[in-house]
Amino acid sequence: MKIPEVWIHMIRVEDPADQAVVAKFYEADQQHLFADWEQLESSQRRTLLADLHRIDLGFLQQLIHDHLDSDAAQAPIAAPDPPRWITLGDPIRSGVQQQGLEALGRGEVAVLMVAGGVGTRLGHPGPKGAYPLLPISGTTLFQMFAESIRRLQKQLGKNIHWLIMTSPSNHEETVEYFRHNSFHGLPPSEVSILSQHQLPVLDPHRGKILRSEPGRILFGPDGHGGAIRLLQRESTRLREKGIRHIYTHQVDNPLAWIADPELVGLHLANSSQFTSKAVAKTDPEEKVGVFCQVGDRMRVIEYSELAESDRNARDEGGELSFRAGNIATHVIDLDFIAPAEQKTALQLPFHQARKSVRHWCDGRWQQSEKPNSVRFETFIFDVLPLCERSLVVEADRELEFAPVKNGTGVDSPDTSRAALQKLWSRWLIEAGVELTLNEDGIPDRVVEISPLVAGNAAELKRYLVDVELPLEGPILLR
Ligand code: UD1
Repeated sequence: MKIPEVWIHMIRVEDPADQAVVAKFYEADQQHLFADWEQLESSQRRTLLADLHRIDLGFLQQLIHDHLDSDAAQAPIAAPDPPRWITLGDPIRSGVQQQGLEALGRGEVAVLMVAGGVGTRLGHPGPKGAYPLLPISGTTLFQMFAESIRRLQKQLGKNIHWLIMTSPSNHEETVEYFRHNSFHGLPPSEVSILSQHQLPVLDPHRGKILRSEPGRILFGPDGHGGAIRLLQRESTRLREKGIRHIYTHQVDNPLAWIADPELVGLHLANSSQFTSKAVAKTDPEEKVGVFCQVGDRMRVIEYSELAESDRNARDEGGELSFRAGNIATHVIDLDFIAPAEQKTALQLPFHQARKSVRHWCDGRWQQSEKPNSVRFETFIFDVLPLCERSLVVEADRELEFAPVKNGTGVDSPDTSRAALQKLWSRWLIEAGVELTLNEDGIPDRVVEISPLVAGNAAELKRYLVDVELPLEGPILLR
């Protein structure tokens, strides 16, 4: 038998298991990873081999075959229609809150925060949730959510289980953050910090695996759809705890309403498999995904994938036709995504994200202004086209959406803080506190209200009955 050329030059390593893994990478045409093997220090060789052992090469080759070597994945989405959604004033909303509260009180709903993103746009080192957002106390996003859960637990007289999805790049730091801050007062046994998977990042033209440094593979998280895999993995444990529905939200939205009983109630009353919140887009260029109807199924189409004509289309009332903007708060039926007698797990489609990254290749650092890498990601909302029963429910933007995505400008800490100031000053004014607002609705005094104190105007009013506020200067209620 003729030995292939590449095998003749294959590097030799001592350990047979390492040699087998090296051979697999030669066989998969990924031998470029060893081009500078002779120049690597022994510690770099060890870390590189350890990284190679972590890669499911068969799965990766399939992804390369399906997405980079074929055009099939590029098929456009069939023409979408505007979705049916439950708007703010819809009478179907009345009475369901109690049903939601009861399910929460029975401990049937766990909260899952997706926090595995790398957050490059914000430019904050470390987990995004550790960003000190609040204007007076510097309270972090993590703390705000923990305090919302504590308030809810107090109201229900029942613990709510909180799952936090991290990724390998921020897992240790997130665990350390929560330990250091004593889980912000939550029982540690009720907080599960779990990492999603990651996949190697590739060269977009040749499908070659990239390195982040000479002795390390460049990995990226596999998208927030990784939450579905994580829930499938954890489903037995969750069921044993009596959990049947998962309420998910994103770490980057401080106004995400944690376990809104009305949303849970609507989900249950309609036997929905996947229920989502949406805010009405008024600017066609706002970069949020929109809910659409495609055939008899709902789906989210990303801003960049929606045709310009659809993006600007208006209905007879003059409003944007595709205005149900995804704020990434969902309630998911656990049995639907992870059936107890599961034969084949529900699998989400992969999307490609092309980015410019600095990486190590051919014995030197490579950099480019243009996207020079591709990573594969799944999206949580791709569960929607698989559902027979789903719901989209309108949320009031001022109450529920103020994301922190970028370091400056739109959707930045400044715009998010301004939205919080507007909301809290409205609550204070409703409770009888005198404040002067500027034309944008921002108060003349800095205000901050901990979720432990109140989650809405009525709760704040009750709290203020026994509280004396300072006559001037910042108002900090915690
Ligand atoms: C996302 C949605 C968009 C929605 C908008 C609302 C996608 C593709 N689009 O856009 O429809 O309108 O939020 O704010 O998601 N994450 C992980 N693991 C990952 C990747 C991301 O946990 O592998 C988490 C991040 O930590 C973050 C969230 O997912 O909490 C959103 O990720 P991001 O990439 O910032 O989404 P957007 O492009 O802003």
